[in-house]
Amino acid sequence: MEISPDVHWVGVNDTESKFFESLWSIPKGVSLNSYLVLGEKKKTLIDTVNDNYFDEYIENLKRLIDPEDIDYIVINHVEPDHAGSLSKILSIASKASVISSKMGIDFVKYYHQVPFNDISVDDGDKVDLGGKTLKFIMTPCIHWPETMCTFLGDDGILFSGDLFGAFDSIGDEIFDDKIGKDSIYSAKRYFTSILSPYYGSINSALKKLGDLQKPCRVIAPSHGLIYRNDPSFITKLYADLCSGKFEEKVVILYGSMYGNTKVLAEAVSDGVKDKCVKVALFNATYDDPSEILTELWKAPAIAVGSPVYDCYIFPPITNLLELIKVKRIRQRVFGLFGDYTWGGGPLYQLQNKIKELGSEVIGSFVKSQGSPTANNIESAIELGNLLAEKAIKNTKESSALAPVQDPFCPT
Ligand code: FEO
Repeated sequence: MEISPDVHWVGVNDTESKFFESLWSIPKGVSLNSYLVLGEKKKTLIDTVNDNYFDEYIENLKRLIDPEDIDYIVINHVEPDHAGSLSKILSIASKASVISSKMGIDFVKYYHQVPFNDISVDDGDKVDLGGKTLKFIMTPCIHWPETMCTFLGDDGILFSGDLFGAFDSIGDEIFDDKIGKDSIYSAKRYFTSILSPYYGSINSALKKLGDLQKPCRVIAPSHGLIYRNDPSFITKLYADLCSGKFEEKVVILYGSMYGNTKVLAEAVSDGVKDKCVKVALFNATYDDPSEILTELWKAPAIAVGSPVYDCYIFPPITNLLELIKVKRIRQRVFGLFGDYTWGGGPLYQLQNKIKELGSEVIGSFVKSQGSPTANNIESAIELGNLLAEKAIKNTKESSALAPVQDPFCPT
């Protein structure tokens, strides 16, 4: 499918996988976008696809060229959903040179133990294809340290890699002609599941891309829609997601085996609603972790409730707290509640876990023994009131962004 003269989408839609990275649900699949740029002298692939889809991919290429004639393969990002077919392509396109960042070339060698010519590029380097010139822009740590973008200034097309990506297959409708609620949500859910910990690097990249000397008319990411009608839509969405601005809401996460912790969770929810603050209530056993993270990303206040299970916190809650840690969701206020029968001590493990997250616990720890009493319910409502008040205050006064501490991720 043509994006502009001699520039084609040659990607595939992964509709088989249930999970992306074996972790994030993709009920509507995901597209693996690859692009072919045909210069007057050089034929160039921008990224490839997961090698599970190689057969479909090579057919897409054969409709346009003889794959043996490929001169360059640009690898913006080495993760196997994009570079996975590289060994197979190189076995056909034996004269092709692989172009990537210096770290990208190293990573390619870890994954693809085949001989190939390599061209390592740095910020601002250019490759002339004949009538079209590729310029490479280093955008490290989105979300691996080797990542870069490639700009085809002649056509105003930015091949942005994972940056600006989205979940969901795109089928044949590869452009942003009909941006609706679903496509906005798939972009947000992709951001929070995959890229969010690297907000510092994304802000640096947004600034750098804003300084491009030629206009960027099309943003072509490696997943999801190609933005040609309104590329500023996705750059503005990212600027907002990485702004650190909270939204006035409280997210409640709970686990419940027999419904008692659920009663407390609903009472906390009532307490939040009393203050006219938005609330999102999630059952850790049944609700989708990536949807939960999407809701958490801008939440200033979070309530967590667990029963005691084998002298520990209920495992689905532990799992969610680990995801919150991995995704660097910090600087929040937490309220805690839980239910036990003969020993409530393990509930205090929640307090230590919240401290590890770089957040603060507020209010009384609401604990019920067996079925919650009227007093327990009252305490849970009060906790909801307190979290709502904090959500209102912190939305006005605080930032969600903690200083970046990752060694590979410069701000
Ligand atoms: Fe789409 Fe980080 O790979």
